[in-house]
Amino acid sequence: MTTKAFWPAEPSVLSISTPPHQAATDAVVIGMDPSGRLGASATLLDQACGGTLSRLIEAGEIRGKSLELTPLYGLANVTAPLVLVVGLGDSAELDRGVAFRAAATASRHLASRERKRVAFFLDLSATELVEHAIAGALVGCQGPDLYRREKNRFPFSEVHWQSHHQASIDAGKILGNSVNLTRRLVNEPPQELYPETFAEFCVDVAQRRGLEIEVWDEARLTTERCESLLAVARGSVRPPRMVILRYRGNPQDKRNLAFVGKGVTFDSGGLSIKTSDSMQDMKCDMAGAATVLGAINAIAQLKLPINVSAFLGLVENMPGGASYKLGDVLKTRQGTTIEVLNTDAEGRLVLADVLNVAVEQGASHLIDLATLTGACMVALGTDVTGAMSNSADWCDEILLAAQECCERVWQLPMYPEYGELIRSEVADIKNIGGRWGGAITAAKLLEVFVNNLPWTHLDIAGPAFLDKPKTWQDAGGSGALVRTLVQIARRFTKSA
Ligand code: BES
Ligand code: MN
Ligand code: ZN
Repeated sequence: MTTKAFWPAEPSVLSISTPPHQAATDAVVIGMDPSGRLGASATLLDQACGGTLSRLIEAGEIRGKSLELTPLYGLANVTAPLVLVVGLGDSAELDRGVAFRAAATASRHLASRERKRVAFFLDLSATELVEHAIAGALVGCQGPDLYRREKNRFPFSEVHWQSHHQASIDAGKILGNSVNLTRRLVNEPPQELYPETFAEFCVDVAQRRGLEIEVWDEARLTTERCESLLAVARGSVRPPRMVILRYRGNPQDKRNLAFVGKGVTFDSGGLSIKTSDSMQDMKCDMAGAATVLGAINAIAQLKLPINVSAFLGLVENMPGGASYKLGDVLKTRQGTTIEVLNTDAEGRLVLADVLNVAVEQGASHLIDLATLTGACMVALGTDVTGAMSNSADWCDEILLAAQECCERVWQLPMYPEYGELIRSEVADIKNIGGRWGGAITAAKLLEVFVNNLPWTHLDIAGPAFLDKPKTWQDAGGSGALVRTLVQIARRFTKSA
């Protein structure tokens, strides 16, 4: 089989100590707030060019409103041919989310033309703002046009960042490149990215980052009794894989944070086949696995002093002569039997076995990420992740981390009544719960397989894939929650 490395060149991020008007780059980005007062970098630039910035503010042309862009070409006595002023909004409301989006919006604008070197002077002081802004600058310049002859987006080769602690610059680069890794995988066509190639890419990541890795092929999955996962894979000519990645940043620590990801590289629905319209974006159904991989890639590079493992369930869900059928009863690895009443509710069947492996391998805290249900999008819309959990404390920890990163996560209830909806007459449970509360009945099935360990399920069906671009990000794979998972890991280092 031909191996394909999904690694385009990543931009390097360098610290720059020259003042903004002397930066020898293709463009310079300057931050502005709505107060009318110029920040340190804006003042230097304004003085150099003879007051153009102050005059534009005076004229109401530049207002500093959040994400407002004002490109200024050929300013006098400024080395860079283009200065892009980006609004940062009210300084009291400047959080990681604004920092990320402002830098990404500027970066996305600049990356519409070929520019090799871009310098950012946003005058951010807090290290966490710097990190997330750098991440934004890297995310904004990468698009989904990998297979276009005429590119819409030209990633920079160098991002020059206003001098700051080297550690924050490095962390921002790691964060941004990891979000982009996830986005790239989600954007790959399913013909290129299927369980085997996905697993090979994981091997590549493991080698680069010094992670332990195990790849379970069909034979191993069979001896491991992963019959539920194998059943989903049976309709496809692409054999399934389970990937286990381990990062040991603190061998003394008994706790083990486990990330579990749904990696359905294409979801046709199987015999319960989807309509063409709802199948169109189903290459994104591996976003959970891609998110988990992006997160552990970042955590390993950040060398966080904790233990993290990632478990990826990689299958393709297709109709075929060997497909699993409605009425089939699957025996999961854990022992619970599941009656299949819809082959399009496949993600939970894959995760049932993967969660069981994670539990058996000594996870102490579990988080799974999955583009699991359309019902979650009906409940929360396209921008919000649904959180469902068996532990209030563990869920709060995750909600807090998400809030710190300004990524939207909202908790849904897990009352026992929802569990009754997936009882079956012929097996222990069934894989669909009927029309109502679909995001939660799916989570109730997963809960059966986590053996009462603290666990939170994150349904990213909405935010993982953007139908339309945002001002700060192109359409397609979004990399949603990679930053939050890293933040959870960081918080985990402190709660030991
Ligand atoms: N992968 C889909 C869920 C999905 C829908 C993700 C839209 C992203 C965007 C999942 O496997 C699925 O098909 N779920 C079904 C469940 C139903 C059959 C109980 C759904 O949501 O319709
Ligand atoms: Mn499905
Ligand atoms: Zn699916």
